Amino acid sequence: KKILFVSSELVPFAKSGGLGDMVSSLAIALAKLGHDVRVVIPRYYHISRDDLQRHPAPLGVPLGWSQEWCAIYEGHLPRSSVPVYFLDHEGYFGRSGIYGATPSSSFDDNFARFSLLSRGAFQLCKALQWFPDVMHAHDWPTALVPVYLNTWEREGDFAPTASVFTIHNLGYQGWFPKADLFYAQIGWHDFLMQGLEALDSINLMKAGITASNLITTVSPTYAQEIQSDAYGEGQDWLLRQRHEQIWGILNGIDEEVWNPQTDRFLAPHHYSAEDLSNKAILKQRLQERMGLPQEKEHPILAMVSRLVSQKGAELLLGDWGVLQRLMHYHPKVQVVIIGTGEAGLEDGLRAFAQRYPEQISVHITFDEPLSHLVEAGADFFLMPSRYEPCGLNQMYSLRYGTLPIVRRTGGLADTVEAYRVEDGAGTGWLFNDYNVDGFWWAVNYAVETYYQRPEHIQQMRKRAMAQDFSWKKSAELYDRAYDQAISYRRGN
Ligand code: ADP
Ligand code: GLC
Repeated sequence: KKILFVSSELVPFAKSGGLGDMVSSLAIALAKLGHDVRVVIPRYYHISRDDLQRHPAPLGVPLGWSQEWCAIYEGHLPRSSVPVYFLDHEGYFGRSGIYGATPSSSFDDNFARFSLLSRGAFQLCKALQWFPDVMHAHDWPTALVPVYLNTWEREGDFAPTASVFTIHNLGYQGWFPKADLFYAQIGWHDFLMQGLEALDSINLMKAGITASNLITTVSPTYAQEIQSDAYGEGQDWLLRQRHEQIWGILNGIDEEVWNPQTDRFLAPHHYSAEDLSNKAILKQRLQERMGLPQEKEHPILAMVSRLVSQKGAELLLGDWGVLQRLMHYHPKVQVVIIGTGEAGLEDGLRAFAQRYPEQISVHITFDEPLSHLVEAGADFFLMPSRYEPCGLNQMYSLRYGTLPIVRRTGGLADTVEAYRVEDGAGTGWLFNDYNVDGFWWAVNYAVETYYQRPEHIQQMRKRAMAQDFSWKKSAELYDRAYDQAISYRRGN
């Protein structure tokens, strides 16, 4: 099949979270199955043009009252032959940042910027005379792709092209004032409640949900959760209407990048389930890097995360929060946190690090090499998410023998198996209730196990490292989802 991904993020070119990892690793996995997969993303300012090839002809993309001219650059995904097309436009993408100048702000013209991307994908195909069987859009930034397939591109070369829309995170819906609609060249007759209208504004997530032939989301549990009032973010009624066309497919991970036996950021201290001795050395390296004393006997609990309310970092903070309780009941444990996001959470964490400099180290930064060292050097990984569509970090940490402590929700519930004290079964600790007591129960249980039943911890590490999180199975499910979407589009 010919498949075009339209995305706002793509590792290694642009990433703010797991979306970028997922899109590039799924594209590679589908190419391995023999599909002709290609990806289109913006040429953000930080992406160097040096290694890319410029197409000779500029691309005209209808936008607003007329059209915008873009340059097309071409490259490919590393370790593959998947072509990547970069849409270059000085006015809309010639600035630092993907969605905003900082991780927690957004640009005023995002609607126009991402309309340009979605509409540009069609113009690109026309220029290449390459028409995909499926266009696969990801989250609100590219949710207009299925809308265009039903409007401007309903007939003609794209008539047989089906749309698949993946919800990576229902918490970000892409709300814009309705006056923006003209940028997208979508008429008021399409400004409908059963479409992209919500509360008299534009809601791009709704556009994707209503216009696509098939919807996927990134874990089976999240696919169920979002159809409920508690997790539906106001769209559960709409999702329930389409429940037959919602598939929950668990993300895989890039097993070449995230492999403790070959990870270039760990060199020369690679390790495997058979021999964990280098993991202890990496623990020291992590302590050194984070400015913590070189303790061997006590566990390191770690977090690598966007610091936003979704991720539950707030449960660590406060007078009798999880950090305070840890320092009280287990004064020797160490905590390592890297992340960026909301100022309140950043400041709260920094304050704890200042108060307990020997125990807690916080780096407010987005640092990919360091995130690998954290996954490898820590003993436990914390993900107390309020909700988690899939979550990649818990899979990375399982692969690195770093046992996750997570809330039982979404992809976390689908990937972490609960510890059983009777025989040491399981791969981590799960709690149900989103509150400090729930999280503390799990953290305390894990730390007690570390001190009292080290043999269980050893067993669990090995079991965790043996889990299969490769893309193979999931890529095959996407393949089937594409067939299903095509048959919906073609009315079979
Ligand atoms: P989400 O997409 O909701 O942020 P995921 O767990 O799916 O959650 O993916 C997060 C990705 O972003 C992981 O690859 C993680 O390592 C990375 N990441 C998040 N924060 C940082 C950071 N401060 N430094 C480096 N990598 C980070
Ligand atoms: C989103 C979700 C995360 C998921 C990622 C990749 O950012 O928050 O849970 O793993 O997308 O699909």
